[in-house]
Amino acid sequence: MAAPLTVLQVCAEMFPLLKTGGLADVAGALPQALRAQNVDMRVLLPGFAPILAGLQAPREVARLPARGDVPAARLLAGRLPACDGDAYVIAAPELYLRQGGPYADAQQRPFVDNHLRFARLCWAAAEIANGIDPQWTPRIVHAHDWHAGLTPTCMRELAVAAKSVFTIHNLAYQGLFPGEVFDQLGLPAACFAMDGVEFYGQVSFMKAALQMADAITTVSPRYAREIQTCEQGMGLDGLLRSRANRLSGILNGVDATVWSPAHDAAIAATYSAQDLDGKALCKAALQAELGLQAAPQRLLLTVVSRLTEQKGLPLLLANLPALIQRGAQIAMLGSGDAELEQAFTAIAKAHPKQVAVRLGYDEPLAHRLIAGADVILVPSLFEPCGLTQLYGLAYGTLPLVRHVGGLADTVVDCSLEALDEHRASGFVFHDFSPEAMDAALRRAELLYGQPTLWQQLQQTGMAQTHDWACAASCYAKLYGDLAGDSA
Ligand code: ADP
Ligand code: GLC
Repeated sequence: MAAPLTVLQVCAEMFPLLKTGGLADVAGALPQALRAQNVDMRVLLPGFAPILAGLQAPREVARLPARGDVPAARLLAGRLPACDGDAYVIAAPELYLRQGGPYADAQQRPFVDNHLRFARLCWAAAEIANGIDPQWTPRIVHAHDWHAGLTPTCMRELAVAAKSVFTIHNLAYQGLFPGEVFDQLGLPAACFAMDGVEFYGQVSFMKAALQMADAITTVSPRYAREIQTCEQGMGLDGLLRSRANRLSGILNGVDATVWSPAHDAAIAATYSAQDLDGKALCKAALQAELGLQAAPQRLLLTVVSRLTEQKGLPLLLANLPALIQRGAQIAMLGSGDAELEQAFTAIAKAHPKQVAVRLGYDEPLAHRLIAGADVILVPSLFEPCGLTQLYGLAYGTLPLVRHVGGLADTVVDCSLEALDEHRASGFVFHDFSPEAMDAALRRAELLYGQPTLWQQLQQTGMAQTHDWACAASCYAKLYGDLAGDSA
């Protein structure tokens, strides 16, 4: 077999060490999935406290020089046993060791020097591609989301041979900063131009990546098409259209070592498509844990989500009174927008036997909710891929989703013909309106009363293997093509 292709993955978070959303799940699953494709992937991460704590046998590889106002730092290498992989970590305590999350302080205010914190990440990636570690040099650098967006630009400045891939997980977060900070980034003045990092007078990490990367991917085929339209392009559709021959959509997978009802240690009882008894136990345990009425026959809907505009939860809020009236139960885990948090909490207080809301971030509870509920709601305004509907499919928890992005690519509505053909796997609505969602909710309630059909839907979803092997082979092909270009 040929020597493995060396690839450096550059990202800001990685499951299980540090996670704020689906990006971490993807970053955590890809290196292992790619190993089977003869790809030797190492990861570069900022030295946030949980990352440093997870790094085993760290050794200092090099000193990273200052670039403009981007401070010098130490580059460490070691193993991340929790992620079963090799990693580089940037030790820069003044940038990364702070109260709060990776991107914002405890009051959710973005750190004012985020441009420097993440330019540090991008420069480090370019230095590694430039051979700063004599023992390992990547032929491909794969950067994720805006945090790593300057990577291709920094690689060009160092004239490295490696090719770059940039994955858009969410075009809504662009890494926009006032134009004045450009001088601090250590890049030559010529980069602050329309074909560089400049975006309407501002610095845009996302735009720089879209402009410079040798290949651009996003996390579902449909989102790859949507972002080329004015409605969903977030101001970058023109640029994306101009790079359409470099842009593709590779659907995310499910990491079955983490999300599988047959092996999940976080849930009350394990189960499979052939034997769903354990799922009923999970539901009963969940109702007891959340103080909901112990009622196996009541339809239990769940939400596990960031509470942001993207996720479309005002549609659920509008439908809650009628849902409660009709006897459904709702269990929500999320955090984010303070108004949404308050609105849902107030309804839970008024109907404690029917509505339970848990604010904050709780990984094991997310598993218990997805295993114990009958339906998982993802009524997003836009959704690059979405992972919770995939977890729902794997757990026999039928997704109710809006027909957008990766949700549209992965859930088949229960039309009569789709039921007849055993293709239906959930409930899909189109218009972003409470009425359209209500119609899908009522389809779910009606079918829930038909146990044979319900079980058929569950089994159709559970039989789908959205495993990472499929995505990994697409990434491996892309890397191979790019590396071949440069050979
Ligand atoms: P996004 O990345 O846009 O937030 P995804 O559906 O791709 O959406 O991924 C969300 C991930 O974060 C899933 O793994 C989901 O289980 C998890 N998650 C979201 N909110 C919470 C929460 N409050 N507690 C625990 N896990 C959460
Ligand atoms: C982003 C998107 C989500 C996607 C995730 C992982 O956070 O919002 O749709 O599943 O990235 O790619």
